[in-house]
Amino acid sequence: MQVELKSPCKVNLILNILGKRPDGFHELETVMHPVAIHDVLSIARTATGIELTCDQPELPTDSRNLVHRAAVAFFTETGIHEGARIHLAKRIPMEAGIGGGSGNAATTLLGLNEVFGSPLDAHALQRLAATLGSDVPFFLQSAPAIAVGRGEQVKPLGAFDALKGFYFLLIHPGFGVSTPWAYKNLARFPTALNGERGRAERLAQNLKTSIEAARADFYNSLEAPVLEKFPLLAIFQEFLRENGAEVALMSGSGSTTFALIEGAQKTAEIEERFRQKFGTNCWVSSVPCNKAPYFPR
Ligand code: C5P
Repeated sequence: MQVELKSPCKVNLILNILGKRPDGFHELETVMHPVAIHDVLSIARTATGIELTCDQPELPTDSRNLVHRAAVAFFTETGIHEGARIHLAKRIPMEAGIGGGSGNAATTLLGLNEVFGSPLDAHALQRLAATLGSDVPFFLQSAPAIAVGRGEQVKPLGAFDALKGFYFLLIHPGFGVSTPWAYKNLARFPTALNGERGRAERLAQNLKTSIEAARADFYNSLEAPVLEKFPLLAIFQEFLRENGAEVALMSGSGSTTFALIEGAQKTAEIEERFRQKFGTNCWVSSVPCNKAPYFPR
């Protein structure tokens, strides 16, 4: 038996860090929104072993790859003595703050669970996902969601009416940002490290009505260290706003910048202007925000 599954990405409409925890992680609240740009995972049941291939030669296919780690976790948890052949067609940039690897891990768990006849229930999948990374549980489901804790406690939400007719424009600058580096360097920015609790709930509430009502809470604590180190990302945001984007913000720990733009035509115009000015090394992609269902996997 074989399945082919789409593995999406996300943006953080807010990533509000509340403080450092004794376990070294950071307590946060975030609103994550699925983005319909995806990798594709093909998963087949085999007699033994985990055989992972990828169309991007620079991506390791051993235990450094979250797909491999997810497969090991699945076989260990279920005690199944068989194997899997997995191919990953990669489209989402890496070290980009849009959860490509986390999505791959969650999709691997879902795919293996499907080809082996659903040995894991939703609760077990959620628990296993959280061991693989803070953002992995979000990708077990496909709706916008609010997440708390270190990001692994996920509450799905309905579609945001305020985003109807809006597009996400995603820009990856051609270099990545290490997530541990970004969190570590937050220590130099006490205000960003100790955010005001409740902003994510307020953003989610206000996104039921209008972007205007929500505007003050599009925020990312990790911009403090990342934009300081990479001022180009602040220049991108300024350019996007000056050219008519309603919102321009960094996603996750970067390096991806995303903009919210109203209407297909305006999105295409801003995208074209951006490409002309900064295009050469950047990955640029746009999709409608509220394209439900977000991911018919
Ligand atoms: O959970 P994940 O593997 O994505 O985390 C990668 C790194 O990011 C962690 O090792 C930690 O340094 C940092 N992190 C954090 N607080 C979070 C999430 C991640 O400090 N809530």
